Amino acid sequence: MTNGLDDVIAADTVLSEVDGENGRLIIRGFDLDQLAGQKTFEEVAALLWDGFFPDVPQVLASELGAARVRVFQEVSGLDTGLLDRSPVEALRALMGRLPDGDDLQTALNLTAAPAVFTAAVVRAQSGQAPVAPDATLGHAADILRMLRNSPASPAEIAALDTYLTTVCDHGLNASTFAARVVASTQAGLTSAALAGLSALKGPLHGGAPGPIIDMLDGIAESQDAKAWILEALDRGDRLMGFGHRVYQVRDPRADALKAAVQRLAAEPNGRPSRVAFAETVEQAVLDILKARKPGRSLQTNVEFYTALLLEALAFPPAAFTCVFAMGRVAGWIAHAREQVTGGRLIRPASRYVGPWPKIAA
Ligand code: ACO
Repeated sequence: MTNGLDDVIAADTVLSEVDGENGRLIIRGFDLDQLAGQKTFEEVAALLWDGFFPDVPQVLASELGAARVRVFQEVSGLDTGLLDRSPVEALRALMGRLPDGDDLQTALNLTAAPAVFTAAVVRAQSGQAPVAPDATLGHAADILRMLRNSPASPAEIAALDTYLTTVCDHGLNASTFAARVVASTQAGLTSAALAGLSALKGPLHGGAPGPIIDMLDGIAESQDAKAWILEALDRGDRLMGFGHRVYQVRDPRADALKAAVQRLAAEPNGRPSRVAFAETVEQAVLDILKARKPGRSLQTNVEFYTALLLEALAFPPAAFTCVFAMGRVAGWIAHAREQVTGGRLIRPASRYVGPWPKIAA
């Protein structure tokens, strides 16, 4: 056994398969590239939840719009104490106020929550009033509108929609496993999603994209990518956006997002030079990691192009993990329902390696 439970099968799932050797992600019978940019987030959420609630519609658009309006009522609870916290901590606190349950309405509220609360927190932290949801818009369009108080372009909406679909589910990653453990106790979907969000927050999981912007800015300032990267590795730092526990080849999500980033950069207000610079940094990191860790296959992961995409959409880096949660929450809910409906209480064993009581002579 290894400390990180590598290769331990802890669940049977119909939801997604991460084929690490071939760099392939399958979601409910579809390859990622058949979904990302092809189907809306609302369609993919319905696909993930199909069979886990009675009568899930094929597209969850109007239902999710109504849920955004419902959860917006909680935004009035945004007090200054919460606004002093990071966006992900404020999001966690606000989501914690939603009631627990196992029904479709709870699932919809939880899926609306990261979208509505993140936009409100980001605006409030910069002294702007929250913008109420528009239930008639698609989820991605409304997220950008709530963030900016103005409509986003079709290219921006498509880019965010592609992102949400790309990250909606990914096998038994740390946050999904955390959600399934909590769901297995029958604590309810809100508790399971909060467990997922708490695990996602860490820099080794969903907390990486913010520091990626710091890395790109640091390298741009130093004007010497190679020296900056080598210094970081000499300090023992990990280079954010590279390496993956399962993928031995390139993360297919990185390619889906790179294409979306390139499309955005080609728009009238796009920043093609930023993307070109990031590609140069990516190649420098890959070359150096190959030389430094010859026995490992450390490739670009989903977070590298996530950082560029969310930066281009004007999300502040401190809120990047919250945007990840906007997509992944659909997967947490599906896994939580799958665990509750077909699984048992998750209760692994540990091996005791501490001292034994001394036997009195
Ligand atoms: N930069 C530098 N070295 C690295 C990196 C990296 N990004 N990733 C792994 N390594 C090194 C480790 O130091 C280790 O070296 P060693 O064997 O000489 O000690 C070796 O590669 C293997 O590392 P592990 O810790 O066994 O790899 P693990 O599978 O646990 O880690 C992880 C995967 C956490 C993603 C790791 O690659 C990492 O820290 N990456 C940077 C953070 C990141 O990008 N996180 C987002 C991941 S994607 C997601 O969660 C959605």
